[in-house]
Parts: sequence; C-alpha cells; structure tokens
Amino acid sequence: MDVVDRFLEKRTLSQEEFVCLLQQSEDEKVRETLRREALALCRRYYGNKVYIRGLIEFTNYCKNNCYYCGIRRDNHHVNRYRLSEEEILSCCREGYALGYRTFVLQGGEDPYFTDERLVSLLRKIKNDHPDCAITLSVGEREKESYRKLREAGADRYLLRHETADRDHYHSLHPPEMHFSHRIRCLYDLKELGYQVGAGCMVGSPGQTLANLADDLLFLQRLQPEMVGIGPFIPHHDTRYAGEKAGSVEMTLFLLSVIRILLPKVLLPATTALGTMDEYGREKGLLAGANVIMPNLSPEKNRKDYSLYDNKICTGEEAAQSIASLIKRVESVGCQVAVERGDALR
Ligand code: 5AD
Repeated sequence: MDVVDRFLEKRTLSQEEFVCLLQQSEDEKVRETLRREALALCRRYYGNKVYIRGLIEFTNYCKNNCYYCGIRRDNHHVNRYRLSEEEILSCCREGYALGYRTFVLQGGEDPYFTDERLVSLLRKIKNDHPDCAITLSVGEREKESYRKLREAGADRYLLRHETADRDHYHSLHPPEMHFSHRIRCLYDLKELGYQVGAGCMVGSPGQTLANLADDLLFLQRLQPEMVGIGPFIPHHDTRYAGEKAGSVEMTLFLLSVIRILLPKVLLPATTALGTMDEYGREKGLLAGANVIMPNLSPEKNRKDYSLYDNKICTGEEAAQSIASLIKRVESVGCQVAVERGDALR
C-alpha cells in the first residue's frame, strides 16, 4: 500500500511517511485525491457553511523582533498606531451590523495593552454583543494573564507555533524568544478552556519537508480547534527581503492534509493565501478550509499592519465588502454563515 492510501486509511503517518507524502505534493493525482477527501470531510462536519471572522488589527506596536515580520520592533519604517477602546468598539458595532458574530482582536505584543486594559475591553465587547465570540491574538503571555482574559470573556486564542522544530524556530527568531515558552503558552491556553488555534507559515526561510512533517505531528499532539497556515511572503524591510515566497500549491496541499488529520478543525483560507493568488481563498475553500477572516480594522490603519509585502487590505478584502465576499464564497458552492461558528468537539 502506498503512503497516500495509508494516510487515507489511518488518518495519520509517521514522520518519515509524512515527508514521503509531502514529496508528492506536486503530483496532480495525489493532490486531487487528498483535496476530494478533505472536501468530503469538511462537508460531512460543517456542510457547505463558511464561517466569517471580523479581524480587528488593533495595534501594530510590538516588543518582539521576529526576523520575518514586517512590524517587528526594529523596523523603524513602520508608522505605529494603536486603536482606542472606542475605535475598537465601533469596529465591532460595524461588524455586527454586517453579520459578523466573531471578532478577532489581533495585535503585536504591545505592552500598552496590559491585562487591565484588555479585560476592560473584553467586558465591553461582551456586554455590547453577548451573542458573539471573541478571539484574541496578542502573542505570548503568562498563564495568569491568559486566565484573566478568559474570565473577562475571551473564548478563543490564536497563537501560531510558527514551526515545531526547535532549531528552525531559533533561526527565525531572536535569542530572547524561546521555543519552549511558545509551546507552553499553547498548552496553558488549552488548559484554561480556550478554543486554541496554532499554525505555521508554509515555505518560511530554511523550512524543510521534515519541518513540515514535524508541524503536522505537533498539530496532531496538540489537537487545536483551529489551524492557521499561509504562505511565507517576504517583507522588504526584513533580512528575508530577497527570499522566495512559499507556494500556493503547497499551502493548498497542506490544508487538505490538515483537514484529513483533524477532520473537525476550523481552517481559515488566509489573507496570505489571498495575497499570493487572486483566487487563493476560493481555492482554499475547495481544499478543505471553512473560515475566512476579512479585515474589519479602520481603513486608515490597514496599510500600516503590514506583516509582509503586498498584503491585500483594500477593496474586496475588507469586511465591509460583504456582498462581494458572499459572491466569492457562493462561487465555490459554499454559504456564508451568520453565527459564532464554534469548533465541534
Ligand atoms: N509572511 C507570511 N506570514 C507572516 N506572518 C508574519 N510575518 C509573515 C510573513 N512575512 C504570520 C505569522 C504570524 C501571523 C500573525 O502572521 O505566522 O503568527
């Protein structure tokens, strides 16, 4: 039996076998086989629903210096901004009227946003919109901090592990960042009852197929409710300015593999995928993804949340362009769902 059949039967593989599977990502027949299986699983658990999340990029200040990221601390060309509480609440109100029932508060690791400030913000959003889920994505914090935020109303947390290989992790991050702390954060979040999202970039500098195989095995161990993956895209103000971007094909292949590995997972077709390919997100939905996260940030700030070059942020990508979003989703046989869209347990 070859490795594709074995994967379809067992829904998992050894590290060596995953490498072998990933080596076949350019084989059209293999891709199509996995894509169909992934799509069938997605339909079985989620029907043709696509969940939408209103993404509010509320601060681009960051104390970290991840080598790949456009808003890292040492990039002095960034025009730094921070939304006020009232601006964030206003984004939520606008999003609610458009049909969003999940708000994702994403930001750099900005020390201004203490537990106290975030707790106050979370309580206000929950008070205004008790039927909505709140997802936080504000990086690594201590468990006590995560506990307070959870108690104040945060339901979910996105923290990509970035890479499950310690050496690769340290090649992408400065010495003051620790692989073990990042992983610990993910387990702390799980223990506190968050729905947790992990994930990584596809094609990040130095990444090997063995690294990706380790990412898959890590995801299988962690059992996250959500997995965010997208192609690495170079940013001109980073040391990786001249590197190659990750491939759309490999990202789509991995979306299918992850859907098969974790059938009930919530899997976004990411902005990075939509940046690399005009129809990237539609292709993602056809490969097993079932979430889209349009940008709900104030128009004036969007260009300054630039993690990588050419990030789509105007026009159709915006949460406000709900009509064109619906059209795109329907063009691949799916339906936009106006609901929280919690993970199936
Ligand atoms: N290309 C693609 N994705 C990136 N991210 C950060 N920088 C880049 C880049 N240059 C991703 C990281 C992070 C998420 C918010 O964005 O995986 O966790």
